[in-house]
Amino acid sequence: MKNIAVAGTGYVGLVTGTCFANLGNKITCIDISEEKIAMLKRGETPIYEPGLSELIQRNVKAGRLHFTTSYDEALADADFVFICVGTPSGVDGEADLRYVRMAAETIAEKMDHPLIVVNKSTVPVGTGDWVADIISRKQPTPIDFAVVSCPEFLKEGSAIADFMAADRVVLGSLNADAAEKVARLHLPLRAPILVTDLRTAEMIKYASNAFLATRISFINEIATICEKLGADVSEVAAGMGYDKRIGPHFLNAGLGYGGSCFPKDVKALEHMALVQGSHPSLLRAVMEINRDARRWAVITLRNLLGGKLEDKRIGLLGLAFKPNTDDLREAPAMEIGHLLQNEGAQVSGYDPVAMVHAGKMNPRLRLAEDPYELAQGVDALLVVTEWDEFKHLDMRRIKEGMAQPILVDGRNIYDPEQMAALGFTYRAVGRGNGANGYNE
Ligand code: UDX
Repeated sequence: MKNIAVAGTGYVGLVTGTCFANLGNKITCIDISEEKIAMLKRGETPIYEPGLSELIQRNVKAGRLHFTTSYDEALADADFVFICVGTPSGVDGEADLRYVRMAAETIAEKMDHPLIVVNKSTVPVGTGDWVADIISRKQPTPIDFAVVSCPEFLKEGSAIADFMAADRVVLGSLNADAAEKVARLHLPLRAPILVTDLRTAEMIKYASNAFLATRISFINEIATICEKLGADVSEVAAGMGYDKRIGPHFLNAGLGYGGSCFPKDVKALEHMALVQGSHPSLLRAVMEINRDARRWAVITLRNLLGGKLEDKRIGLLGLAFKPNTDDLREAPAMEIGHLLQNEGAQVSGYDPVAMVHAGKMNPRLRLAEDPYELAQGVDALLVVTEWDEFKHLDMRRIKEGMAQPILVDGRNIYDPEQMAALGFTYRAVGRGNGANGYNE
């Protein structure tokens, strides 16, 4: 059992802290937000993540998981401190490091015994060295420490499983002894552990996210070509995925990637390249295709609705940036909703968990109680998030309520032939609409 302090109770911090507690370590999570810590102490979980609340409760009860706003308290017996604070996008697309700086400075001021500082926040290449420099400069008296980079690869919605059954653990440090100690914390996961230098570890995180975003933009580009040529991108992706060199994952065409990582990390990597005089043209294309994916929905709806969206009623089926999360950061639904409203459409939405946040972000968005209420009287429905419950709707009932049976499937969750047979005017992403006869 090790004593671990975790700075930041956002997505990464809370999942990391709770999972390490579950592995038998003693964890103290620190946050500068009194409100968040008070919530956690009351037994409430500030984010929606399947299974997380139960796991927090279990580990709090077992005395392995604690919450505090005090670095003094958290660092008192700590062997490790994990930095898991946010790194939002700055004005130029760069990662904003103010919270990492604050955490590093506070650790430097409060530590009173040797510590291993593990950075899990997604930070530009070189930040590990910068953190080490801050700590050395801010320590009132010199105390031994080492910085290890340990990027996180959790996906929202399956974060606990992703942590417990990690594909790999990446560790970066110039201090082999510190890297070895952090590696030992991860041994129960039985995952391959790659130990490298700090900068390389930081780059692995960016390169992984940029590569996954590239796969999504690649398949979205193929989708637009399929649409013109009458091919079906879903089957193209399936056919490609059997090739072991390609694999089946992250080849779902749709309205593009969103969330708290891909958009921000691709931008930050572009920024890192630019300031070093590099010309990251592939990353730029990835971002441009992603923007176009949202525009596709607006253009398709406009075309189907007679060339104008003015006063048209449009329902958004799903608001979260992906299923199993209430996260609306860079969610296509929010962007598309605004674009439709700009053209005069009346937009309503339904989501199993993200409605409250969505209503706050876009007060003009009408919220429906369920998908059937959403369908009532709308001129078109747009599937934005592929929640499982949408795959099993009574589509006959959905159609009966609609003013016009126009269904635009931004996530390719329905069968085009079935939808056409039900009488929908159905459009999907890259599925040969027109050329092979659906709805024509
Ligand atoms: C991602 C990374 O997967 C994770 O390793 C990293 O730590 C954080 O960023 P997350 O943002 O939670 O995780 O979601 P993910 O499931 O990866 O999806 C990202 C976006 O890509 C979503 O908007 C999703 O809808 C979209 N996506 C994903 C596609 O459009 N097509 C796909 O085939 C896969």
